[in-house]
Amino acid sequence: MSQTLALFGGAPVRTRPFPPWPVFGRADEQRLLRTLRSGKWGKLAGTQVTEFEQRFAAMHGCKHAIGVVNGTVSLRLGLMAGGIQAGDEVIVPPYTFYATASAVIEANAVPVFADVELETFNLDPKAVAAAITPRTRAIIAVHFAGQPADMTALRALAKKHDLLLIEDAAHAHGASYRGKPAGSLGDLGSFSFQSSKNLTSGEGGLITTNDDTLAAACRSLHNCGRIPTGAWYEHHVLGANYRLGEFQGAVLNSQLDRLEGQTATRDRNGLYLARQLGAFPGLFPQHRPAACTRHSYHLFMARIDAGEFGAPRTAVIAALKAEGIHCSGGYPLSLHHQPMFQKKAFGPYLAAEKKRLDYRKTHCPNSDRICREQGLWLEQSTFLGSRADMEHIVAAFAKVHEHREALAVWAKHQAKS
Ligand SMILES: Cc1ncc(COP(=O)(O)O)c(C=O)c1O
Repeated sequence: MSQTLALFGGAPVRTRPFPPWPVFGRADEQRLLRTLRSGKWGKLAGTQVTEFEQRFAAMHGCKHAIGVVNGTVSLRLGLMAGGIQAGDEVIVPPYTFYATASAVIEANAVPVFADVELETFNLDPKAVAAAITPRTRAIIAVHFAGQPADMTALRALAKKHDLLLIEDAAHAHGASYRGKPAGSLGDLGSFSFQSSKNLTSGEGGLITTNDDTLAAACRSLHNCGRIPTGAWYEHHVLGANYRLGEFQGAVLNSQLDRLEGQTATRDRNGLYLARQLGAFPGLFPQHRPAACTRHSYHLFMARIDAGEFGAPRTAVIAALKAEGIHCSGGYPLSLHHQPMFQKKAFGPYLAAEKKRLDYRKTHCPNSDRICREQGLWLEQSTFLGSRADMEHIVAAFAKVHEHREALAVWAKHQAKS
């Protein structure tokens, strides 16, 4: 038997930190300084955001990219541009960040939750099909953790029922599906550049699309309802100033130079770790279908089946942390269990719909199981490390698995005390 678990006073497997995030250097400093000295700090005057939009669009094989203030607004504007009206239903997964559903409410539409697959953590097309009603107008597919959702099935459903298909690609910078970039697979793609994301400027967001009409609508919405042929003080639709700023554009341009290399490293390391960890009984790394041609590993996800593994998730996580592996159980509850949904605390939105809505009746057992019992997350910057770093993670899991019986006893004591 290997050394005592660090949780019980032994030496940890890992004492060095994993790679930090964000990564920056002289190129970022120079871009920022140039932008500062130009005196052109807003998108309408400067060149940085426009340059970034053009590069991001080209990288995605998309005709259009529109930089906005964050990845929540990009979802909301996508819905508005797509013609979503008050009370329309939009299907979303319950295993996602709050914004995927809150953006729907802020578009005055009704989020309808369809469960995810236990194995991939992504929307289950069968659950989506079952959730479609005559009021359904759109689907938001989240590429969770950076692994594209089943876009073939979701596209077929969207086509059959004439639905807008939005990709929430907030985790999926650089990911691809059947060789095509995430963000170019639906009607609209939505990205976030918030601090934790694989491509970041602290805050920021962007919309991708190949549809000229949707692009024109998004451009107008993010620019106070203006139109290209109109005057400055001429507002055609209800929009606002949702423009991405030039300092963020500058950082995104220099960060984008790194993305390809970083994504390749994350994908290589994530794939390796998934293979190694998949060998432990009761440990199930996110299933990767062949259609996922590149995973961006914003998160490395796995499930721990306590019965099969021999110790409960909370104890495994506590033991891994003590061994120097930064990890967590992820979301503790499915989105629809949040107080906001349970109490229908939607502010001024959905006033006419509240009576008919009851999120206490939403049933998404896979998402609940992942949140409450099984989910395990490791974060993206860990995967910017070396093969030796991955070996440390494998060694920590091996040690924890070897000591699972002692860990299970510890967990029982913890539960009692
Ligand atoms: C899946 C998902 N969608 C949307 C967002 C919203 O992005 P932002 O924070 O930039 O508004 C996030 C994260 O922050 C996210 O993880």
